[in-house]
Amino acid sequence: MSSKIYIETYGCQMNFADTEIVLGILKNKGYSVAKTAEEADLILLNTCSIRDNAEQRIYGRLGNLKNLKIKKPDLLLGILGCMAERLKKDLIEEKKIVDLVVGPDEYRRLPEYIDIAFSGEKGIGVRLSRTETYDDIEPYREEGLSAWISVMRGCDKFCSFCVVPFTRGRERSRSLNSVVQEIESLSKRGFKEVTLLGQNVNSYRDDENDFADLLEACAMVDRSIRIRFTTSHPQDLSDKLLYTIANNPNICNYIHLPVQSGSNRILELMNRTYTIEHYLNLIEKARKIIPGVSFSTDIIAGFPTETQEDHLATLEVMKIVRYDGAYMFKYSPREGTKAYKMGDDIPDEIKTKRLQEIIDLQQKISYEKNQELIGNEEIVLVEGFSRKSNDFFSGRTDTNKVVVFPVQTDVKAGDYVKVKINKATSATLFGDFIEHYSIENEKTLKCL
Ligand code: SAH
Ligand code: SF4
Ligand code: F3S
Repeated sequence: MSSKIYIETYGCQMNFADTEIVLGILKNKGYSVAKTAEEADLILLNTCSIRDNAEQRIYGRLGNLKNLKIKKPDLLLGILGCMAERLKKDLIEEKKIVDLVVGPDEYRRLPEYIDIAFSGEKGIGVRLSRTETYDDIEPYREEGLSAWISVMRGCDKFCSFCVVPFTRGRERSRSLNSVVQEIESLSKRGFKEVTLLGQNVNSYRDDENDFADLLEACAMVDRSIRIRFTTSHPQDLSDKLLYTIANNPNICNYIHLPVQSGSNRILELMNRTYTIEHYLNLIEKARKIIPGVSFSTDIIAGFPTETQEDHLATLEVMKIVRYDGAYMFKYSPREGTKAYKMGDDIPDEIKTKRLQEIIDLQQKISYEKNQELIGNEEIVLVEGFSRKSNDFFSGRTDTNKVVVFPVQTDVKAGDYVKVKINKATSATLFGDFIEHYSIENEKTLKCL
């Protein structure tokens, strides 16, 4: 079998990590990867269902691909990921151009479903699993500096607005050893940054090991590899985890801790299981244990019944925490979730207005926080040329801020360097190269 496949990935980092697992599985079976959709025999879209606009984008893309299929009738089209799970047979019955629908827990059997599709039947695999973690599958990764590793799958939290528990099923974790081995092999290939992924990564569990144990084991593999992780749920961020971050120089001082809303009434309707007081205490505690830690968040504007007062409470929390960054969304009702039954009573103009106020406030805070860094020396992992010019390099601090500085002849992607910050916008820091830096020599603990 030498068919060529092309995969387009949408949605969260877990989907990007899954695409590498899918490529690993298919390459083992002798498929090769096409560079463009045009030269492929099979086009797979790894899809996202989180908000309506994510799904509309896929429907738009299917519309384009229909033209390609008219020109090339043997071409197969498949839907992977969360939409496969949420829409299942509808995709096949209504969108007749789809030949294959395979959900996130059935990728191991994808080659069988592809064979079925090539034989002219529809390949459908949408069962969710309580155990599948793809522990033994080697993901197919291009050479690079940064890698994603899914360490747990699924979500048991059932926030009332969210489709993930339905599209990804129950929580389950990979073995600690298999994650450590994967990082060992990434270290040999010269990778410098690993992000451990899970929808609710703090719920990781492997026998007696919790997420803090996993994080520490990963950090010990190679002290020159930075370890990041996402996403943390405010209910499960333990003191042990905070101390683990503080005590390991190569675990990044950066926590993505979605708050969703600043109103306790809304948090309860969202089934987020924490109060805003608990959340703010957690932030304060983390800042004491990990000096210099930065936070980002997710916020939803216009959840059912949200009043102006609730909205002001969200703005207030943003002012108290002063996040370094935020992902901000308009509420999108999802059929089958608990919140769907609450209606969608906030008119779109109000959602838009509230969202804009949230975005404006965050921009102001990000700008001010970045201005405060002018004059500081930051340790940057160089990623390559900056997006705008080959005269500049771009990289990130361990707090996940982008830093741009003039190209130096003896600096290359993958180096750690010290940069003195001299200018800042809300999204980027600019500075001058000072010297090379070795993070593995950072023997001093961040916190004693
Ligand atoms: N597991 C992570 C991320 C889930 S999806 C977490 O719990 O934080 C990423 C973000 O999308 C969520 O944090 C939430 O802010 C947003 N989101 C999820 N469902 C949504 C919906 N129905 N409408 C608008 N935003 C939503
Ligand atoms: Fe969705 Fe909540 Fe689970 Fe995050 S924790 S994936 S928002 S149900
Ligand atoms: Fe989207 Fe599924 Fe990720 S709904 S955000 S691709 S878990």
